[in-house]
Amino acid sequence: MNELREVGIIGTGHYVPERSMTNHDFEKFLETSDEWITQRTGIRARRIAADDQACSDLCVIAAERALDDAGIDASEIDLIIVATVTPDYLLPNTACFVQNRIGAVNAGGWDIANACTGFLSAMMSARGLIASGNIRTALVIGAEKLSSILNWQDRTSAILFGDGAGAMILRADAPDGRILFTDSGLDGAQWDVIQRPAGGSREPLTHEIIEERRHLMSIRGNEVFKFAVRKFRTLIKGSLEQTGHGIDDLTLVVPHQVNQRIIEAAIDALAIDLDRVYVNLDRFGNTSAASVPIAFDEVKRAGRLNKGDLISMVAFGSGLAWGSALVRW
Ligand code: UT7
Repeated sequence: MNELREVGIIGTGHYVPERSMTNHDFEKFLETSDEWITQRTGIRARRIAADDQACSDLCVIAAERALDDAGIDASEIDLIIVATVTPDYLLPNTACFVQNRIGAVNAGGWDIANACTGFLSAMMSARGLIASGNIRTALVIGAEKLSSILNWQDRTSAILFGDGAGAMILRADAPDGRILFTDSGLDGAQWDVIQRPAGGSREPLTHEIIEERRHLMSIRGNEVFKFAVRKFRTLIKGSLEQTGHGIDDLTLVVPHQVNQRIIEAAIDALAIDLDRVYVNLDRFGNTSAASVPIAFDEVKRAGRLNKGDLISMVAFGSGLAWGSALVRW
């Protein structure tokens, strides 16, 4: 066995579609209000992809921006992992479209379907493969066209989500952005809290299923609420404890953009000020696997990262699944 190699972030990028949909837009066809959505979630707008934009189209722009940021050629990428629950097709994977379009002629690749936790799962997988010497450079993407699987008649879920993509390039022995810790977990007993019941092998599609809208996403939001507040706290605490850090060492938290009230309840219990937490859900809503990498790229491009900063990323969602990462910039 080779000695384990350090893994760092050498480039990031993101893309959100141009079309913005506000809370007022929902008032036109659902029994809801801007006031309810803003107060209960913190969300004011979300981006919605064009009809002719699929998941890989969002990925490609985010990936090209990350390559540009890293200053490397696509041919240097050994592995592409796309985290998504809204792939272009059920077969083949979405990574193959990205590989072809960006010209990553030397890359292997696959998708990971772990919903809101997906990007951190992909990051953990790529980190392990780089650390063990299997590969040198990985392109990790979280991307969703959630608008394609929403039940637009369900006010409890449709108002929460948006489309977008975020990308990171990870490399062995990179000087900055060192990944100190990654973690993941599952509580499969709660698999039905966030789901798309039909369309898989258990309930293949029929005309009746489509009429009943069982092929679309459904959530039991208030069950997620309690779980998310608890996990947010324990994930941050766990990653700090296991790397010998305290809460005061933490420069910034880049969390899954789930709900302003969830974020505030969790950081209150941890005694972290809101200015040490990055939030963009007011503009983009919850973009599932894309949420953490979009937020991280915004932080980086805003010049908020300084050498030595300690950054925590946490995510949780369907599974129920969770994941975290700790990075020393
Ligand atoms: O990232 C993982 C996926 N994300 C999630 O699963 C979301 C996590 N959960 C949440 O963000 C919150 O639980 C929600 C925003 C979904 C709901 O907030 P809540 O404070 O937990 O509300 P609730 O579900 O307890 O519903 C309260 C009331 C209900 O009416 P009744 O039964 O009290 O009369 C709902 O029917 O609010 C009603 N309601 C709405 N009213 C206006 C639910 N959605 C809406 C809406 N507009 N869009």
